[in-house]
Formats: sequence, structure tokens, C-alpha cells
Amino acid sequence: MAAPSPPNDPSTDPSPAELIAARPWLRHDPMAGLLMDGVPLAAIADAIGTPTWVYSAATMRARYRSLAAAMAEAALDVQVHYAVKANDSRAVLALFGSEGAGADVVSGGELLKARRAGIPASRIVYSGVGKSEQELRLALSEGIGQINVESAEELSMLSCLADALGRRARIALRVNPDVDAGTNEKIATGRAEDKFGISYADAAALYARAATMPGIDPIGLATHIGSQILALAPYRDAFARIAALVVALREQGLRVSAVDCGGGLGIPYRNEPAPSPAGLAACMRSAFHGLNVRLAMEPGRWLVGSAGVLLASVVLIKQSPLERFIVLDAGMNELVRPAMYDAWHGIVPVSATDAIAPRVPASVVGPVCESGDTFARSRLLPSLAPEARVAILDAGAYGAVMSSTYNARPLAAEAWVDSERWSVIRDRQAVETLWERERLPE
Ligand code: LLP
Repeated sequence: MAAPSPPNDPSTDPSPAELIAARPWLRHDPMAGLLMDGVPLAAIADAIGTPTWVYSAATMRARYRSLAAAMAEAALDVQVHYAVKANDSRAVLALFGSEGAGADVVSGGELLKARRAGIPASRIVYSGVGKSEQELRLALSEGIGQINVESAEELSMLSCLADALGRRARIALRVNPDVDAGTNEKIATGRAEDKFGISYADAAALYARAATMPGIDPIGLATHIGSQILALAPYRDAFARIAALVVALREQGLRVSAVDCGGGLGIPYRNEPAPSPAGLAACMRSAFHGLNVRLAMEPGRWLVGSAGVLLASVVLIKQSPLERFIVLDAGMNELVRPAMYDAWHGIVPVSATDAIAPRVPASVVGPVCESGDTFARSRLLPSLAPEARVAILDAGAYGAVMSSTYNARPLAAEAWVDSERWSVIRDRQAVETLWERERLPE
């Protein structure tokens, strides 16, 4: 079941003030406007322009620590592998690495980025349904901690490669538990019809076969049922099925020492109720307590999503016969989530005067030549003037990483705020680089 699209009724939306109040790293100062951890976002926009992604390093750190604390309080020893795909900025990877996190990667590129950010190979887990031979070779030669195998075909390929390289690949079988996480259709991964994982019915036989294959060291099971999950029941169901499989495999005399519980914990984009890490820890504990397995998890969005904003400027206000459009200099090529998943993101004015001005409905759109380039419909916002700035909230996960240069728009800059200072963590792409790898045929 896909989550219903959010209603288009602006009266059910949280106001900018309510959104800011629920995100303590953001505050509206009556003079300086919107602050992130004490730094005026207007100062960042003045210095490096817009569109620009800005992250709160303190928030990312605090969220990592509270997640780790929730696991520890439930007496669970869990290795956290940060899902690099959510935000693969090297500064972000290094931050989590220095907190003790490992990395969950899904490509050779992510693997190399995680290594370059200082994350030890032993703390890297490689997931994904289509790892190429070249990528598997890289994973083996780096000696990464675990490869989550998603098919019998991949297992055979890996066995040949590892055997030829004289290595033993520590693998977990990623099991598809056939559970509906109730999230958006495009990001559900744990139903039988999804392309991910090994079907529950086939998993035990394949695990037994893996134990006999050259170059393969099966250490356990993995699962990941989807993303932006706002209920705990699907986790409970999935973990119960995985725990039953651990027991069944052991009854066959097979060694199962690790379970990777995946990611997926949702965040309250719309100030809606969302599960806590403590709730997730309780699900993990009730399924795996007493089974004597090492636990791991792969959170992405929960760690970084709320910690980031996309700063944009108003290009112009367009009054059409039916609607008022606020046209921004940021578009779907920067933040694709609204266009791709009908995702709702809070939008708040940056200036102090705009923050207290009366609000009227408007659609907030980007400059890209597609009607889908719409961040919000009928949103209650002050009547912003050209050059006014807005912050699109909760853009720290699946934001910059999913950007494209569609319409020949260079990739935006990224900055972060740490200890009340801000710095650029990625320069804005120079427009010339858009065509520098192109060749005119003879
Ligand atoms: N582990 C695996 C195997 C995954 O495929 C994913 C996400 C994660 C962990 C991390 O999930 P998280 O904790 O971030 O929910 N672009 C979409 C989300 C795609 C998620 C893909 N897999 C969005 O913007 O909502």
C-alpha cells in the first residue's frame, strides 16, 4: 500500500513558526532572521549565493549520539553503518566516522568515498542489487567488513571472484521478508514484488549452499524494508521473520552470528508523529534478544535529513489568473523529492520581517521547464518580494546527492555550520565544467 499523498489543504500544514519550533537548531532572530545554530543563514547566502545546501554538523552529531544511546539503553550492542547514499559529502562521512560509525555503501564510488573520509574498511557494509564484478573486486581487495548478497547469481559471481583472488568474502544474505512498510511505492523494498533481497522461502537453502562455496564465509542475515517508515509494526514483522530464520538455520547446524537490521526510520517532515530510535531499539530487542547475534543497522535519513536546509532566493512572483507562483532559483534539479515522491517539505522565510508578515496561499516552484518542478502547492507564505530568501527544510537527506544538472544548471554549493561558524564543504560547480568532458565528433 502506498502512503496517500499529503492533502493539498494548506490549513492542515504546520506554520513556519511551528516548523521552526520543532527544530531547535533553527531559530528566528528578530534582527538577523533565520539562524542555524546561531549563524544567520542570510550571511551564508550573501557570501556564496543561492541555491545552497546548509547542514548543522551539531545536529548530525547529536542525532548519531542519541541513536547510539537509545541502542545502548536497550542493552543492544549495535554497530551503526551510516547509509552513505543519504548524504555522501566527505565532511559528513568524516563526521560520522569520527563518532565511530561505519558505512553502508551501494557502489564502488560510495565505497571509495567512505574510505577517503577515513572510515575503516572493516566497518563498511556493501548492499545493493546490482554490484558489478569490478565493484565486488574492489570490495574484496579493500577487505570490507561485510557484503550483503541479494541473489543466488551474485553469490556465485562473488564466490568465483573471491576464490580467484584468494580471499574469503564475509557475507550476509539480504532477505526480503515480504513486509509492506507502508511508505511511498517508490521507496518500499521489503515486499515480495520488490527487486531487493532473496525471497524468504529461498533464503535457508541458499544460506546452506553459501556455507559450502569457495571464497564465501556466511556470517549472517540482513534486511531493509524501505525508507521514510513512520510506523514500528512493519519492523516488528520483518525482524520476527528474520529471527525465525536465524533459529531455523542454526537448527540445520549453520553458524549465524550477525543480523543487519537495515535503515528506514522516518522523520517528521510535516511535524507528524514519527517513531523514535528507542521504539526501533525495542523492536530489535524483542526479536533478537537472547539469540546471541551481533546487530547492525544502516540509518541514513534519520541522521541527516532534518539537519539540512536548501537555501533559495525568490526570482520573481508571478500572478497567473488562477494562482500566485513564487518562483525560486532552486529547482527540481536540486531537490527532486517533491517531484519524484510527492514529498512535503516545510518552506520558511529567512528574513525577520518576512517571518512575521501575513501569510497568503501561493505555489512555490522552481525555474526548470517542467510542471513537476513544484516544491509546494497552495502553501501559506508571506508575500515575498524578488530576492527574498527561503529555507526549504529537512533537505539534508536525499537532497544534494540526488541533484542533477538538468537544464544546464550547475550543482549547488554545500556549506555547514559547526561551533557557530560556517564553512563551505563543496564549492558551487563552475558552469564551464558542464561541457568540459564533451567532444564534438570529427
Ligand atoms: N540500507 C539500504 C540497503 C538502503 O537501500 C537504504 C535506502 C538505507 C539503508 C537507508 O535508508 P534510510 O535510513 O535513509 O531510510 N531517495 C528516497 C529514499 C531512498 C532510500 C533508498 N535506500 C527519498 O528521497 O525518500
